[in-house]
Amino acid sequence: MKDFDLDDIPANPSQAEPLEQLRQRLANRRRLLKGGLGLGAVTFLGGLLPAAAATNAPTATAGPKATGLGFKAVPMSTADMLAVPEGYAHAVINRWGDPLFADSPTFAGQATEGGDAQARQIGYNHDGLHFFPIASSGAPDGSSEGLLVTNHEYVTPHYFFPRGVEPGNAQWNLDWIRKAQHAQGVSVTHIRLEPQGGWRLVANSSFNRSIHANTPIRIIGPAAGHALLRTSADPRGETVLGTFGNCGNGWTPWNTYLTCEENFTDYFGIDARDADAAEYPDEDYRWDTHDARFNWTREPNEYNRHGWIVEIDPFDPQATPRKLTALGRFKHENAALTIGADRRVVVYMGDDQRSEYLYKFVSDGEYRPDRDAHNRQLLERGTLYVARFEAGADGNGTGRWIPLTLDTRALDGRRLGETFNENLGELLIKTRQAADAVGATPMDRPEWVAVHPHTREAYVTLTNNSDRGSGKARWPGGPAHPGADGGANPRDKNIYGQIVRWREDDDSAASPTFKWDLFVLAGNPTLYDEGDARRGSSNVTRENTFNSPDGLGFDPQGRLWIQTDGSYKNNGQYAGQGNNQMLVADPTTGELRRFLTGPKGCEVTGITWTPDQRFVFINIQHPGEGPELAEAQRNRYRRPPGPMARRPRDRARRPSWSGSTTAASPAVKRRGGGRRPPAVYFPSGLQDNAANSPHFEVPHDTRPPVLRTAMARGPGHHPRHRVRLPPPRRGPAAQCLARHALPQRPGAL
Ligand code: FEO
Ligand code: CA
Ligand code: CA
Repeated sequence: MKDFDLDDIPANPSQAEPLEQLRQRLANRRRLLKGGLGLGAVTFLGGLLPAAAATNAPTATAGPKATGLGFKAVPMSTADMLAVPEGYAHAVINRWGDPLFADSPTFAGQATEGGDAQARQIGYNHDGLHFFPIASSGAPDGSSEGLLVTNHEYVTPHYFFPRGVEPGNAQWNLDWIRKAQHAQGVSVTHIRLEPQGGWRLVANSSFNRSIHANTPIRIIGPAAGHALLRTSADPRGETVLGTFGNCGNGWTPWNTYLTCEENFTDYFGIDARDADAAEYPDEDYRWDTHDARFNWTREPNEYNRHGWIVEIDPFDPQATPRKLTALGRFKHENAALTIGADRRVVVYMGDDQRSEYLYKFVSDGEYRPDRDAHNRQLLERGTLYVARFEAGADGNGTGRWIPLTLDTRALDGRRLGETFNENLGELLIKTRQAADAVGATPMDRPEWVAVHPHTREAYVTLTNNSDRGSGKARWPGGPAHPGADGGANPRDKNIYGQIVRWREDDDSAASPTFKWDLFVLAGNPTLYDEGDARRGSSNVTRENTFNSPDGLGFDPQGRLWIQTDGSYKNNGQYAGQGNNQMLVADPTTGELRRFLTGPKGCEVTGITWTPDQRFVFINIQHPGEGPELAEAQRNRYRRPPGPMARRPRDRARRPSWSGSTTAASPAVKRRGGGRRPPAVYFPSGLQDNAANSPHFEVPHDTRPPVLRTAMARGPGHHPRHRVRLPPPRRGPAAQCLARHALPQRPGAL
């Protein structure tokens, strides 16, 4: 996470009235917060939302009864291993480098594979994922077979390239760039539960697929064809090569997968290293050095073609993925889809950057369960809204969804159409600028949103924002990061994060207004006492303390699973918090319990269940993060101490194991790639204590018609995404720089 990206500089940096006035209006409530950060003090919706656990919380008058957590919490851990509660087991599937097709090369173990091999192996740094069940005679609900679709967010050069190869150094060439491009995007894997109890990839399945940074993708919606999306390779602005920076995800009731492009700005270079600005380009990529479309000075519109949500039909290996421009362009974290009372589709989305915004999309059309072709067009047209958090006169938190349409009035009284050339496509390409103009509330880095399966309350992780109240500029020449707002973002220099939840008015997801409260304020009660905002809310204890909530998901019973991506230093302000982890919360009582701790250096991210909930799939991303690149490359060829080192087979198979481990469990040993980000599954076995709920649930077909069609092609039919790539273009970089001098970057977010 960088302080800012130069390409984030908006053309219209109007700073919303918001914070200063809001701060004054909320002064009384802020004193309350300072006086005691028990959830009761920050729960404004006791009568509307299920009350949280706090001595002075109002009595709940609505919502389901407590679901119960039903497992013994695991302690904080700093060990290089994965821990789950007693009675649970875990194993690994789909490691980086595992063969994706029957004839894929086996992982060489020295990171020596080039671009062609990587295109036929599982990608790197797994993030969001979703299990699409396939019904079988033995499991009609699809709990023993399905398509596990996984985001591959980025690469960590420390472990991804062979020793001596670093982005931009003398060994750096186009094939290493291709390798990095082919390791990002999305993998579709057909997996099956073996009779012995383990999940396996079905190697000869026609569904297995890699969608990566060079896969053709259609641009759909209001921005398709816009001049800002046209490039020399695609003068119509309708087809883009690839998706990368794929962070969180979503899924639809018509069985498609949504992948979210997050830190896409990091991949573009400028052919020069002295552009005052310092943080650009990102040293970990350097794709611009041999692939001209990532050279912003030569192909300035290419980067406008990224930063979108992409829809993928995993059941049709031939289907071209679609970039959905109606959902806006920013650093998309995930996409939480629900359906409003009026049957319109609603998608909640966070923009993960310090002091950026929370959005929702509402479709024009209605969801119709029996009309698949109709539903597949629902994300093409609709209205994008941005959130403004306010306080109501009665002390409850209220908020408004401000439509980002051409007719919406900005804070300066002008129609947005006047700023964006009366073109909705241009507005969507520059979504952040439109949100600035209408006075959206800058948030503490919105990451995942999850919607309760019964109540439809929505929750968002605000992971942290150390710049809030710091006085630092949000972008060069821009306004300062706002100070604590006494509301949804109540702390300056917020290093721990919080989870905010809201309920739409009229119980309709498409409502223009909502009520909100803070579900949990993360903090460190081992260091700070009541009255200190850094202690966190009262449902945070010494036993469950954590920082930087990120991944988020509800299981079908309405338990909230919280994953962290924060500091694992376990000292200073993070003392006692250990490695990144996964917790489970009861939304009704507010109770939080730690379910899992990850290995050193990792984040825990992505979550999905089999329909019977016996298995939950999650990802362990970037284990081993921390050392400098050269050190990491040097050390990873050393044998680790402990029982793993004594296993000849593992030694032969996994020479890239690095760091140390004392892991002795046969299941844990399959983490053997050590630095290979795995998808971990383990039986969840949680009991459903909730009453059978009559509430709405999004249906999930287990065997759509297209599946039968694709299967009819038989085994051995593999989609091979061999892409003809344009040769690198050469040109006078200096001229281009002069035309497009930073920071006036065309098409800025
Ligand atoms: Fe890819 Fe904001 O996490
Ligand atoms: Ca994340
Ligand atoms: Ca994060």
